[in-house]
Amino acid sequence: MTSLFTPIALRALTARNRLWVAPMCQYSAVDGVPQEWHHSHLAQFASGGAGLVMAEATSVSPEGRISPEDTGLWNDRQGDAWTPIVAAIRSRGSLAGVQLAHAGRKASTWSPFSGRRGSVPLEDGGWPTVAPSAVAFDGYAEPAALDTAGIDAVVADFGAAAQRAVDAGFDVIELHAAHGYLLHEFLSPLSNRREDAYGGSLANRARLLLRIVDAVRTTAPDAPLFVRFSASDWAEGGLDVDEIATVARWASDRGADFFDISSGGLVAHQQIAVGPGYQVAFAERVRREAGVPVSAVGLITDAAQAESIVAAGEADAVMAGREWLRDPHFALRASTELGVEIDYWPAQYLRARPQG
Ligand SMILES: Cc1cc2nc3c(=O)[nH]c(=O)nc-3n(C[C@H](O)[C@H](O)[C@H](O)COP(=O)(O)O)c2cc1C
Repeated sequence: MTSLFTPIALRALTARNRLWVAPMCQYSAVDGVPQEWHHSHLAQFASGGAGLVMAEATSVSPEGRISPEDTGLWNDRQGDAWTPIVAAIRSRGSLAGVQLAHAGRKASTWSPFSGRRGSVPLEDGGWPTVAPSAVAFDGYAEPAALDTAGIDAVVADFGAAAQRAVDAGFDVIELHAAHGYLLHEFLSPLSNRREDAYGGSLANRARLLLRIVDAVRTTAPDAPLFVRFSASDWAEGGLDVDEIATVARWASDRGADFFDISSGGLVAHQQIAVGPGYQVAFAERVRREAGVPVSAVGLITDAAQAESIVAAGEADAVMAGREWLRDPHFALRASTELGVEIDYWPAQYLRARPQG
């Protein structure tokens, strides 16, 4: 008996197991166009048995990139470049997902391996950032508050990017509403000081996200739609898990299917209690309170731990990030460790399969 390796239905699709690859920026795109690195990087996880491979935060507009090297889906050249990458993932038996994102006030920053930190100045190829309010992330450039036309443009950009994602063959679309990026900035009272229909009450702070859910449901009606949330800002006066459960319920009522529960990233003074599986309790709580399917993520690094999270009903699936970077065949190894027979061990690698 295994829970982790039991397939799961996502609308009309089925993921072959519940051990998935979390979205991970590679900071290796050129003008938003994914490169050969993205192809080999993402395909290896599908060879390694993942049920779902979620491509990195992919911007819906040039100004929504975290760094100049982020991938995008704001033009057809980017869509065309994703097409063979998606085909490589799908031909190896994984579902292919993409995380659509806008980095808001945390856009236009140096990539982690550039050797520099903070905002990229305009003269070095950076750009002015936008946010719900003109409140900077500590140490970053001050953003401009979006006006109503700017908000409408963001909604349209997400809708158009979702259409391109489907055209490129992606099975699953995830909206990035976590880690202090634009949609999270609207949700949190620490970054959203607006006094119009997009600020104040939780319903107002969730309005942009819910409009985007509607827009994506229009352009991509059949794709399983995930939302990644930060269930806590880990800071006084910030978002908490009960509010996120409420927003998840609203998003579910508007047609979102699945919720990927992370935390943090909104403010520099966050105090995170990090440890193995430290965000699982948030996932469990959203699942229970909102009655929606969820994935857990964050320091889930071994097969028995992942199995027990799903078996205990704490989450419907597990996403891992860094463990897949350490071992791109994490799911193959996990199946061996859990003693589960899978029929998708790549035929080319069968001679390496441990004998039980
Ligand atoms: C290299 C790297 C890039 C990441 N990029 C993203 C991203 O694009 N979008 C996102 O939501 N989270 C991103 N994350 C966070 C991961 O998705 C994941 O939530 C986090 O690493 C915790 O899981 P782990 O302990 O299994 O690595 C990134 C993490 C790493 C290590």
